[in-house]
Amino acid sequence: MRRVAFWSPKGGVGKTTLALNFAAAAYFAGNKVLVCDMDPQQSAIDVFQEKQLPFSVVPGIPQVIPNVDFVIYDHAPNIEKIPAVETIVLPMRASILDLKAVNRSFRLIRDKRVIKCINAVDTRRQEERVLAMKLYSEGAHLIKDRSIYVRSLAQGKTVFQQDVYGSRDAQNELNRLLERIINP
Ligand SMILES: Nc1ncnc2c1ncn2[C@@H]1O[C@H](COP(=O)(O)OP(=O)(O)O)[C@@H](O)[C@H]1O
Ligand SMILES: [Mg+2]
Repeated sequence: MRRVAFWSPKGGVGKTTLALNFAAAAYFAGNKVLVCDMDPQQSAIDVFQEKQLPFSVVPGIPQVIPNVDFVIYDHAPNIEKIPAVETIVLPMRASILDLKAVNRSFRLIRDKRVIKCINAVDTRRQEERVLAMKLYSEGAHLIKDRSIYVRSLAQGKTVFQQDVYGSRDAQNELNRLLERIINP
Protein backbone atom coordinates (compact mmCIF):
# COMPACT_ATOMS: atom_id res chain seq x y z
CA MET A 1 0.00 0.00 0.00
CA ARG A 2 1.32 3.44 -0.95
CA ARG A 3 0.48 6.48 1.14
CA VAL A 4 0.64 9.84 -0.57
CA ALA A 5 -0.18 13.15 1.11
CA PHE A 6 -1.12 16.33 -0.66
CA TRP A 7 0.22 18.75 1.88
CA SER A 8 1.25 22.40 1.94
CA PRO A 9 1.60 25.14 4.53
CA LYS A 10 -0.56 27.29 2.25
CA GLY A 11 -4.23 27.21 1.34
CA GLY A 12 -5.69 27.56 -2.13
CA VAL A 13 -2.69 26.02 -3.90
CA GLY A 14 -4.51 23.00 -5.34
CA LYS A 15 -4.21 20.29 -2.70
CA THR A 16 -7.80 19.12 -3.12
CA THR A 17 -7.80 19.47 -6.91
CA LEU A 18 -4.60 17.51 -7.30
CA ALA A 19 -5.42 14.89 -4.63
CA LEU A 20 -8.71 13.98 -6.35
CA ASN A 21 -7.28 14.03 -9.86
CA PHE A 22 -4.22 12.07 -8.79
CA ALA A 23 -6.56 9.54 -7.16
CA ALA A 24 -8.35 9.25 -10.51
CA ALA A 25 -5.03 8.72 -12.33
CA ALA A 26 -4.23 5.85 -9.96
CA TYR A 27 -7.76 4.45 -10.18
CA PHE A 28 -7.90 4.46 -13.99
CA ALA A 29 -4.46 2.83 -14.06
CA GLY A 30 -6.09 -0.14 -12.32
CA ASN A 31 -5.45 0.57 -8.63
CA LYS A 32 -7.78 0.46 -5.66
CA VAL A 33 -7.84 3.94 -4.19
CA LEU A 34 -9.09 5.64 -1.03
CA VAL A 35 -9.01 9.39 -0.42
CA CYS A 36 -8.96 10.67 3.17
CA ASP A 37 -10.18 14.25 3.51
CA MET A 38 -8.17 15.69 6.41
CA ASP A 39 -9.48 19.25 5.98
CA PRO A 40 -12.31 20.36 8.31
CA GLN A 41 -13.66 22.28 5.32
CA GLN A 42 -14.27 18.89 3.65
CA SER A 43 -14.01 20.09 0.08
CA ALA A 44 -13.09 16.62 -1.20
CA ILE A 45 -16.13 15.19 0.60
CA ASP A 46 -18.27 17.88 -1.05
CA VAL A 47 -17.08 16.71 -4.47
CA PHE A 48 -17.64 13.05 -3.53
CA GLN A 49 -21.22 13.81 -2.53
CA GLU A 50 -22.01 14.63 -6.16
CA LYS A 51 -21.78 10.82 -6.63
CA GLN A 52 -19.65 10.98 -9.79
CA LEU A 53 -16.28 9.87 -8.46
CA PRO A 54 -15.34 6.23 -9.14
CA PHE A 55 -13.53 5.91 -5.77
CA SER A 56 -14.41 6.71 -2.16
CA VAL A 57 -13.59 9.80 -0.13
CA VAL A 58 -13.87 9.50 3.66
CA PRO A 59 -13.56 12.17 6.37
CA GLY A 60 -10.30 11.81 8.32
CA ILE A 61 -8.41 8.54 8.71
CA PRO A 62 -10.66 5.48 9.11
CA GLN A 63 -9.93 3.16 12.07
CA VAL A 64 -9.42 0.27 9.74
CA ILE A 65 -7.83 1.20 6.43
CA PRO A 66 -9.33 -1.03 3.74
CA ASN A 67 -7.11 -3.11 1.50
CA VAL A 68 -6.26 -0.57 -1.21
CA ASP A 69 -3.22 0.19 -3.37
CA PHE A 70 -3.21 3.92 -2.64
CA VAL A 71 -4.29 5.93 0.37
CA ILE A 72 -4.31 9.58 -0.61
CA TYR A 73 -4.55 12.30 2.03
CA ASP A 74 -5.96 15.71 1.19
CA HIS A 75 -4.66 17.95 3.96
CA ALA A 76 -5.71 21.21 5.51
CA PRO A 77 -3.17 24.04 5.26
CA ASN A 78 -1.73 23.33 8.71
CA ILE A 79 2.04 23.26 8.79
CA GLU A 80 2.48 21.44 12.10
CA LYS A 81 0.39 18.39 11.18
CA ILE A 82 2.75 16.14 9.28
CA PRO A 83 1.12 13.06 7.82
CA ALA A 84 2.50 9.55 8.33
CA VAL A 85 3.28 8.84 4.69
CA GLU A 86 6.24 7.99 2.50
CA THR A 87 5.55 10.58 -0.18
CA ILE A 88 4.39 14.17 0.11
CA VAL A 89 3.19 16.02 -2.94
CA LEU A 90 3.60 19.68 -2.10
CA PRO A 91 1.48 21.85 -4.39
CA MET A 92 2.49 25.48 -4.71
CA ARG A 93 2.07 28.34 -7.13
CA ALA A 94 4.95 29.64 -9.19
CA SER A 95 5.33 32.61 -6.87
CA ILE A 96 8.22 33.83 -4.75
CA LEU A 97 5.94 34.13 -1.70
CA ASP A 98 4.81 30.51 -2.03
CA LEU A 99 8.40 29.42 -2.41
CA LYS A 100 9.40 31.28 0.77
CA ALA A 101 6.51 29.78 2.75
CA VAL A 102 7.38 26.31 1.50
CA ASN A 103 11.08 26.68 2.27
CA ARG A 104 10.28 27.89 5.78
CA SER A 105 8.27 24.74 6.54
CA PHE A 106 10.62 22.34 4.76
CA ARG A 107 12.31 21.23 8.00
CA LEU A 108 9.00 19.61 9.00
CA ILE A 109 9.09 17.20 6.07
CA ARG A 110 12.82 16.58 5.73
CA ASP A 111 12.48 12.84 6.38
CA LYS A 112 9.92 12.29 3.59
CA ARG A 113 10.14 12.03 -0.12
CA VAL A 114 8.80 15.40 -1.25
CA ILE A 115 7.69 16.18 -4.77
CA LYS A 116 7.07 19.88 -5.27
CA CYS A 117 4.21 20.35 -7.66
CA ILE A 118 4.08 23.78 -9.27
CA ASN A 119 0.37 24.09 -9.89
CA ALA A 120 -1.77 26.20 -12.20
CA VAL A 121 1.23 27.50 -14.11
CA ASP A 122 0.24 30.19 -16.60
CA THR A 123 3.01 30.08 -19.19
CA ARG A 124 1.88 33.38 -20.73
CA ARG A 125 3.21 35.21 -17.68
CA GLN A 126 6.94 35.57 -18.01
CA GLU A 127 7.88 35.70 -14.29
CA GLU A 128 5.74 32.67 -13.59
CA ARG A 129 7.13 30.75 -16.52
CA VAL A 130 10.74 31.52 -15.57
CA LEU A 131 10.27 30.51 -11.92
CA ALA A 132 8.34 27.37 -12.89
CA MET A 133 11.09 26.32 -15.30
CA LYS A 134 13.75 26.91 -12.66
CA LEU A 135 11.88 24.76 -10.14
CA TYR A 136 11.26 22.15 -12.84
CA SER A 137 15.00 21.97 -13.50
CA GLU A 138 15.42 21.30 -9.76
CA GLY A 139 13.01 18.37 -9.90
CA ALA A 140 9.57 19.91 -9.40
CA HIS A 141 6.54 18.58 -11.28
CA LEU A 142 4.52 21.07 -13.35
CA ILE A 143 0.73 21.23 -13.68
CA LYS A 144 -0.65 23.90 -15.98
CA ASP A 145 -3.44 26.37 -15.36
CA ARG A 146 -6.42 24.67 -17.05
CA SER A 147 -10.09 25.49 -16.74
CA ILE A 148 -10.87 21.77 -17.11
CA TYR A 149 -9.68 21.29 -13.49
CA VAL A 150 -12.09 23.91 -12.22
CA ARG A 151 -14.99 22.74 -14.40
CA SER A 152 -14.54 19.07 -13.55
CA LEU A 153 -14.62 19.53 -9.78
CA ALA A 154 -17.65 21.81 -10.12
CA GLN A 155 -19.37 18.82 -11.78
CA GLY A 156 -18.16 16.44 -9.06
CA LYS A 157 -15.74 14.79 -11.51
CA THR A 158 -12.07 14.48 -12.32
CA VAL A 159 -10.34 15.30 -15.60
CA PHE A 160 -10.24 11.55 -16.29
CA GLN A 161 -14.02 11.58 -16.63
CA GLN A 162 -13.99 14.23 -19.34
CA ASP A 163 -13.40 14.00 -23.04
CA VAL A 164 -13.13 17.62 -24.10
CA TYR A 165 -10.46 20.04 -25.23
CA GLY A 166 -7.61 20.02 -22.72
CA SER A 167 -8.70 16.99 -20.73
CA ARG A 168 -6.16 14.66 -22.35
CA ASP A 169 -3.29 17.04 -21.60
CA ALA A 170 -4.47 17.31 -18.00
CA GLN A 171 -4.68 13.50 -17.73
CA ASN A 172 -1.14 13.21 -19.09
CA GLU A 173 0.36 15.57 -16.53
CA LEU A 174 -1.25 13.59 -13.73
CA ASN A 175 -0.21 10.26 -15.22
CA ARG A 176 3.38 11.54 -15.24
CA LEU A 177 3.07 12.40 -11.53
CA LEU A 178 1.76 8.88 -10.86
CA GLU A 179 4.73 7.43 -12.81
CA ARG A 180 7.16 9.40 -10.66
CA ILE A 181 5.57 8.20 -7.44
CA ILE A 182 5.49 4.57 -8.52
CA ASN A 183 9.02 4.58 -9.99
CA PRO A 184 11.17 6.96 -7.91
N1 LIG B 1 -4.21 23.41 -12.35
C1 LIG B 1 -5.22 24.26 -12.08
N2 LIG B 1 -5.72 25.04 -13.08
C2 LIG B 1 -6.70 25.92 -12.84
N3 LIG B 1 -7.30 26.09 -11.63
C3 LIG B 1 -6.87 25.32 -10.60
C4 LIG B 1 -5.82 24.37 -10.77
N4 LIG B 1 -5.61 23.77 -9.57
C5 LIG B 1 -6.49 24.31 -8.71
N5 LIG B 1 -7.24 25.26 -9.30
C6 LIG B 1 -8.28 26.09 -8.66
O1 LIG B 1 -7.66 26.79 -7.57
C7 LIG B 1 -8.56 26.88 -6.47
C8 LIG B 1 -7.92 26.28 -5.22
O2 LIG B 1 -7.74 24.89 -5.41
P1 LIG B 1 -7.96 23.83 -4.23
O3 LIG B 1 -7.70 22.49 -4.81
O4 LIG B 1 -9.25 24.04 -3.53
O5 LIG B 1 -6.76 24.25 -3.25
P2 LIG B 1 -6.47 23.81 -1.71
O6 LIG B 1 -7.07 22.47 -1.49
O7 LIG B 1 -4.97 23.81 -1.61
O8 LIG B 1 -7.08 24.86 -0.86
C9 LIG B 1 -9.83 26.15 -6.89
O9 LIG B 1 -10.74 27.11 -7.34
C10 LIG B 1 -9.37 25.26 -8.03
O10 LIG B 1 -10.41 25.02 -8.95
MG1 LIG C 1 -8.38 21.76 -0.03
